[in-house]
Amino acid sequence: MPLKKTQKREHWASKFGFVLAATGSAVGLGNMWRFPYKAGEFGGGAFVLVYLIAVIAMGIPVLIAEFIIGRSTQKNPVGAFRALRNNKFWPLVGWLGVLTGFVILSYYCVVGGWILKYIFSSLTGTFQTGAAGVRFESFLASPAEMVFWHGIFMGFTIFIVRGGISSGIEKWSKILMPAFIILLLILMINSLFSPGAEKGISFLLKPDFSKLTREGILEALGSAFFSLSLGMGAMLTYGSYLDKDTNISVSSLEIAFLDTFCAIIAGLMIFPIVFTYNVDPKVGPGMFFITLPEVFASMPTGQLIGFTFFVLVAFAAITSAISLLEVVVSFVMDEFGWTRKKADYLLGFVIFVAGIPSALSFNLWSGFTAWGGKNIFDILDSLASNYMLPIGGFFIAIFAGWILTHGEKEAEIKKVENAFHFYDIWHVLIQYVTPVALLIVLLYTTGALSFF
Ligand code: TRP
Repeated sequence: MPLKKTQKREHWASKFGFVLAATGSAVGLGNMWRFPYKAGEFGGGAFVLVYLIAVIAMGIPVLIAEFIIGRSTQKNPVGAFRALRNNKFWPLVGWLGVLTGFVILSYYCVVGGWILKYIFSSLTGTFQTGAAGVRFESFLASPAEMVFWHGIFMGFTIFIVRGGISSGIEKWSKILMPAFIILLLILMINSLFSPGAEKGISFLLKPDFSKLTREGILEALGSAFFSLSLGMGAMLTYGSYLDKDTNISVSSLEIAFLDTFCAIIAGLMIFPIVFTYNVDPKVGPGMFFITLPEVFASMPTGQLIGFTFFVLVAFAAITSAISLLEVVVSFVMDEFGWTRKKADYLLGFVIFVAGIPSALSFNLWSGFTAWGGKNIFDILDSLASNYMLPIGGFFIAIFAGWILTHGEKEAEIKKVENAFHFYDIWHVLIQYVTPVALLIVLLYTTGALSFF
């Protein structure tokens, strides 16, 4: 069959660069504001233990599955499923992934914009005690400012993706991720010297199994999955730029370890100051944009610490955003033969426009609500994280566990790495454990099953 002339597929220049880029995708706002608080709420060390089990039993198996599908086909999510099983159904799983990437990126960039705005404010010296809440409210109330910063964040994302795999995403991940980890460690050490350190550490890590409710267990499963950027083909797409000699199993373990490590360190950075200044430990947007700026304002070196904090959060957010844009860009490059430049600029712009309603949902369009009072931003977030990602993840697990043959899978992971029956253990997990766990998460978070 004559092959259509296509651009030669790009590849990662090094295994290290690939691991950092995938870790960059995984480490994001989820690690910074979802994990630490949920851990504190649901019994500290007890939650962390379940989270670790979830990472091992369903996170790593799906991560490996996405890498296998991506590397064996060297294609975007839609092309990959089509190349493996060209029927009516499976390519739709790829389509769902691309659509999910589009949706998440549209509102992710809005939050990315808030972070940039806070970096800018900290440079101009505007953390002031007693004013953070008012400032955040007035920022949210300004449509022009919100759209402006949203656009700037998208601009950075487009810029990095424009450079391609090795000289864009990989190059920037190799700069931003080490910088992120160093800043995170510096701020953590600084926090550990604060008077609230002991209370903060015990809030995050001291196991209390009585607080580990069924809801807590489900939250651990959901967070572990979300935190590794699974279920929509982001890792599949990154895997499609791998060459044959990268060891998928080892890389997956490294990525999962780094992601979990960053989540725990983020907690160790945040809670000691939270308990030192006696503020509400409920992490989330409110803590990042109101409580912490208040705390920074009353710290002696708060201006510098606040600036550093928002810079590191921005690095985490941008390395996640580029992986979302890359999914969509690789899809149109492969399927429609567009150049990277055209795909990147055009789709980046379209997603920017698609994000404007999310930015406006805090001001001009705040009156538009549905689903029990959710604004547009919240609707998109809950649609993507509660429905689209677990559904996508479920079908990826079924595909890898039940549809692909052993031959197809072993070509990617068995030959080089069958130590400790790695393949066999992975196979049992991806066939039974992961799909069942994801189904339960899906049914509970969507309210199809309830606790009482
Ligand atoms: N893992 C990211 C975080 O922890 C969020 C995320 C979920 C994501 N799914 C994704 C990022 C897909 C990139 C691609 O914040």
